[in-house]
Amino acid sequence: ADLDLQEIHDYLISLAREAGEMITSAHPTTSASGTKKNSADLVTETDRAVETLVSTSLRTRYPHILFMGEETYAPGDLLTAAPTFIVDPIDGTTNFVHRLPYACISLGLAVNLVPAVGVVYNPFTQTLYSAITGRGAFLNRTTPLPLASPTPLGALSNCLVAVEWGSDRSGNDYDVKVATFAKLAGSKEIGGAMVHSLRSLGSAALNMCAVASGALDVYWETGCWAWDVCAGWVILKEAGGLVADGNPGGWKPRVDGRRYLSVRGGEGQKELVEEFWGVIQGKCE
Ligand code: IPD
Repeated sequence: ADLDLQEIHDYLISLAREAGEMITSAHPTTSASGTKKNSADLVTETDRAVETLVSTSLRTRYPHILFMGEETYAPGDLLTAAPTFIVDPIDGTTNFVHRLPYACISLGLAVNLVPAVGVVYNPFTQTLYSAITGRGAFLNRTTPLPLASPTPLGALSNCLVAVEWGSDRSGNDYDVKVATFAKLAGSKEIGGAMVHSLRSLGSAALNMCAVASGALDVYWETGCWAWDVCAGWVILKEAGGLVADGNPGGWKPRVDGRRYLSVRGGEGQKELVEEFWGVIQGKCE
């Protein structure tokens, strides 16, 4: 049966607000948080409780739609073409644990491996980003994104660029990242791009929404998971931005280890993507 994307979008917003109250009323501490693969990969009871709330609610209301969430994902789980909710209960868990109010709940729906609905909500600032494919992207439901008509992108040296350290702190992909960060920051004399500056705000979904808004020009990360990007992807696309190297059009069924380059709307996207590929120092797995 056809999905009513508007109805799903509206329901996801009400769910995000409900989950948001759970997030803001929690009192995480660094000592009470747990870790997954290493000391930089944090998870809290709140992440798990929010995912339970969201998955229970979505499975009850939409029993025919599959569910994938960060905290219940099992290695080997694959995305399929079937409609699937893709959820990160708290994106920016490290910020949440440290009480840096830059974290969100990220609720996405993918159909045929393409993000179709996205809701990203930062409950600390009560900032809501949402989009339905083909129907535009909005801040707080009514303000269209981007927030101003986009100026031409120009060269990387004109750009404010977000990157993230992620939680993998060794191996080939980490080396590629660190060397690339240096090239982005560095002067043209040493083959760098010398961007306006680099930012690591700590939430993939909010980074993509900042690119959609026009506040960041570019965001690059390797090692994201489907739930980090599903909702932000449709919001960015509907705001005129693009996601390059995330398997154009959708995902391969594997959900881990993807590289994503997000570029805001505006003239010169293709040229900027080309320039960016030239700056990356090596090949990620
Ligand atoms: C993480 C954040 C972080 C990014 C990681 C993500 P989490 O999500 O978005 O900024 O660097 O790749 O996994 O663990 O806070 O849900």
